[in-house]
Amino acid sequence: MRRAWLRAAIVPVALLLSACATQSPMSSSTPEPPSPTPSVTTAAETALTGNGDVPQVLDPDLLEHLPVTVHSQSGYQQRIFATWPEFGKPKIDAAIRGYYLSTIKQFEQDYPQPTDPEAPSPELNLDWHLLAASPSMIGIVADGYQFAGADASDLWHSMWFDPSTDTVYQPADLVNSYAVSTALVGLEPSRRTMVTTLDLSPLGSNPYGAATLVAFTGNGDLIVGFDECQVAACVEDRVTMTIPATTVAPMLTAAGKRAQAAEMDPVDPTTTASASSPSPVPVVTPQPTAKKVNCKKLKCVAITFDDGPGAYTKQLLGYLKAGNVPATFFMLGQQVDTYPSTARAVAKAGHEIGVHTWSHRDLTRLSPIQIDKEITSTVDIIRNETGVTPTLLRPPYGAVNSTVRKEARKAGLAVVLWNVDTLDWKTRSTPKTVKAALRDTRRGSIILLHDIHKTSVAAVPDIIAGLQAKGYTFVTVTDLLGNPQPGVMYRYGR
Ligand code: NI
Repeated sequence: MRRAWLRAAIVPVALLLSACATQSPMSSSTPEPPSPTPSVTTAAETALTGNGDVPQVLDPDLLEHLPVTVHSQSGYQQRIFATWPEFGKPKIDAAIRGYYLSTIKQFEQDYPQPTDPEAPSPELNLDWHLLAASPSMIGIVADGYQFAGADASDLWHSMWFDPSTDTVYQPADLVNSYAVSTALVGLEPSRRTMVTTLDLSPLGSNPYGAATLVAFTGNGDLIVGFDECQVAACVEDRVTMTIPATTVAPMLTAAGKRAQAAEMDPVDPTTTASASSPSPVPVVTPQPTAKKVNCKKLKCVAITFDDGPGAYTKQLLGYLKAGNVPATFFMLGQQVDTYPSTARAVAKAGHEIGVHTWSHRDLTRLSPIQIDKEITSTVDIIRNETGVTPTLLRPPYGAVNSTVRKEARKAGLAVVLWNVDTLDWKTRSTPKTVKAALRDTRRGSIILLHDIHKTSVAAVPDIIAGLQAKGYTFVTVTDLLGNPQPGVMYRYGR
């Protein structure tokens, strides 16, 4: 039984909502449900969008069995946030990292931070989705948004590889490019009823070779996708063209057939190892029964960790436990989706969990509906995975306006910034991170760190020891603030 896979299946939004509303957590004695019933997948929140068919994406927690690393880097001037998986395979990881880093570099060159402080900051947000998985084929797609001061655009880029042999496939390895290109040109007139400005001719005789997305539908149809402005007017969004499974069948190479199978009927890449392991059962954990700490008398500080959970979070939990330190974790929905058991471990250890949104977008640039979706999807996955209902929001980049505060209030969340920025995200230096934390912390401080960086996690034992030696007592943000109010913004406590 592959319970993990059932959870990974994709369901329409309506089914997802009703499943969440009516299902109680499955226990190992519960009979297998007749149809896939993912307990919490929020894939609907993160699905790709484009003009035409888009591939379904899988629940990334499947990869929690694999040595996946999610990297990210973020800046406050140019707002850049990127996450991508690495699989511990040299060639595959180099290809993935290469794509993300070159996209970031290009963005930094093309859209430098404006000198006018009133001008909006350029923003690049790159995340990833799992397209397909089997022991011999994994597909991912980078999904990006960039804002360049005047206009915003979306981009995507699919990557396919064989983890068993550390092989990276190019799009031309999956199909007969000539045959698919011919089929795309044949499809062009009918597709133009939806994409009126569609024109493949600038791409020459091999439009498939210029495609930025190659994927399959759940039925095995081939989806070929292009970036905004690539084959149609920019307003038409990213464009996809679909070649039916029956038509594409003779065009697929052996690798293409494996890719199609891995997307239509995905299997856990760890195969037998996890096939018999039971599905994790959500643990309902109460918020920490905080020891009665009186911050009117004690020198209290709160240590906070953003952007996780990630690959180093469990190590961090060990350091916090050793120092008997409660912390506050501002989690990203997409990271909880990838690391649900780590999120549960954080809750179980009694730490506070707050919301850092789903995808780390600058909220001040989003509509109220989009802000609400970023917040509530993350509240939902935290609650479903850990049993904890968050009451705090930390907006990405600390970017706040009245709309953000209003949406936070509606969601019952206090807005929590910080007054000690260790710059750990920038220096990536353990000694500098420790030094900044010990130098800048005062009574009531809220200290900002990121548990997705190895160097930051490594700094925690010395920060704890150093501040405890100075007489500080660590508390959660809620304990530091006393009774934080929804929609109100805080940078420090008493
Ligand atoms: Ni962040």
